[in-house]
Amino acid sequence: MMPLVVTLFCLCVLKMGGFSASVTQATVQSDVLCHDWGVWSEASVRVYDGEVSWIYCPLFSHPTLYSYSQTHNSSLSLLWYRHTHTHDLEQPINLKLHTLHKDREYLWIQPATAQDAGLYICMLRNISSCVKIGVELEVVQRDGECGAGARPHLNLTIPLQSEHTLSCPDLNTLTLPNSTHSVTWYHLCRSDLFRGDRELKGDDLVIYRMSVVYAGLYTCVVSYQMNGRTLQFTRAINVTAVVPDIGSKVPSILNPASDQIYTVTLGDQATLSCRVHLPHLYSEKQEIWWTIDSKTVEQLADPRFSSPEATLDSYYYGDEIRERVLHVMDVSSDDLQREFNCSARNSRGFNTSRAVLKGQRNYTLEMGFMAL
Ligand SMILES: *[C@@H]1O[C@H](CO)[C@@H](O)[C@H](O)[C@H]1NC(C)=O
Ligand SMILES: *[C@@H]1O[C@H](CO)[C@@H](O)[C@H](O)[C@H]1NC(C)=O
Ligand SMILES: *[C@@H]1O[C@H](CO)[C@@H](O)[C@H](O)[C@H]1NC(C)=O
Ligand SMILES: *[C@@H]1O[C@H](CO)[C@@H](O)[C@H](O)[C@H]1NC(C)=O
Ligand SMILES: *[C@@H]1O[C@H](CO)[C@@H](O)[C@H](O)[C@H]1NC(C)=O
Ligand SMILES: *[C@@H]1O[C@H](CO)[C@@H](O)[C@H](O)[C@H]1NC(C)=O
Ligand SMILES: *[C@@H]1O[C@H](CO)[C@@H](O)[C@H](O)[C@H]1NC(C)=O
Ligand SMILES: *[C@@H]1O[C@H](CO)[C@@H](O)[C@H](O)[C@H]1NC(C)=O
Repeated sequence: MMPLVVTLFCLCVLKMGGFSASVTQATVQSDVLCHDWGVWSEASVRVYDGEVSWIYCPLFSHPTLYSYSQTHNSSLSLLWYRHTHTHDLEQPINLKLHTLHKDREYLWIQPATAQDAGLYICMLRNISSCVKIGVELEVVQRDGECGAGARPHLNLTIPLQSEHTLSCPDLNTLTLPNSTHSVTWYHLCRSDLFRGDRELKGDDLVIYRMSVVYAGLYTCVVSYQMNGRTLQFTRAINVTAVVPDIGSKVPSILNPASDQIYTVTLGDQATLSCRVHLPHLYSEKQEIWWTIDSKTVEQLADPRFSSPEATLDSYYYGDEIRERVLHVMDVSSDDLQREFNCSARNSRGFNTSRAVLKGQRNYTLEMGFMAL
């Protein structure tokens, strides 16, 4: 019964052009001619049960770059499918369902429920070419009204004392015709404390003077009316306070301090510690390294010297203290004459400091010899 219906349907649409017919085929059997990009995990979407969600077709960003306007010129059509595990089939999305809505590169689900979770496939095809890609939709239960425990959509660092305006992420995506919306902001699940140094201004939340107590998770809930229904989505912003960008941001070397002596035992292994204060700078590489007589450990390539990567010692509002050690095996009296320097660098400058070694003998060892 079913194949007959499909065949009849195919014959009907064939008259309307081969393009539609081949699309119909894809619903019956997977099309071998379609280039499959697999599942694009970067585009996966996570939504609260009962909230609005939209899936962006990644063919318009990565890995292929189609532009939506260009697709019309190539008579390419964008089609959405759902992958059903039960039949291992790609079923066309039923856009007649009032919750699903196609808008340019997006598939809107208004709202998403647990049954909507799964794999969505967007396909671009014309008579001669076809490409498709999958996007996973995850539907999760929200925990509490403010969505505490939410996975942040945005990590933000705000310098202390500075002004910053928080905008609800993805709010500008909401370009539905004639929709009026409202935005409710929460900080650590409270929505009643925006006065003084913080103020609601339109859809935004303005922080006039950043303070350490204004750090933490902010959530915004956007709600709007559509076809007589109230729809909403929630976004979370993780706000971190950092020290302001004033004064010298050159690394300072805490150890070795200017007159610090490192006492080492001749014939034994020594571990020289270098501790550096690295002031907060936005996403940039700050380096710490040891030199022995102006040569780095790598340049010397002497198995007696090794220096593992720096480790985080402490953290204070974006400023870091990192430690990098230098291991010296089998310390010799010649080593006491060498120049051991720890250096640090970032975009603002360079600093270096010498570790002066003082040798001591291993008395335990000597006592052992004496006992012999
Ligand atoms: C599509 O074609 C129209 C006219 O046929 C042209 O004006 C437009 O620039 C083309 N767009 C692209 C992206 O090629
Ligand atoms: C189909 O799309 C491809 C890829 O964009 C394009 O190169 C080709 O010209 C299109 N074919 C037709 C018949 O429009
Ligand atoms: C935010 O930061 C956390 C912790 O560093 C990280 O796991 C997460 O991927 C970041 N989220 C975004 C959207 O960048
Ligand atoms: C939407 O708003 C425009 C003007 O802003 C108006 O002309 C139009 O009739 C409205 N459409 C609906 C469906 O209300
Ligand atoms: C917020 O960001 C900070 C700093 O990047 C990170 O340590 C913390 O884990 C993040 N919190 C969440 C909930 O992701
Ligand atoms: C280098 O580090 C020292 C502390 O070890 C610090 O006093 C000095 O200001 C730093 N140099 C520069 C140029 O900032
Ligand atoms: C080692 O550090 C000292 C300061 O403690 C400095 O005067 C000297 O130039 C540095 N040497 C090298 C090779 O960087
Ligand atoms: C002294 O030498 C002995 C024997 O080699 C060793 O076990 C001990 O750790 C050394 N002591 C010091 C302080 O380096």
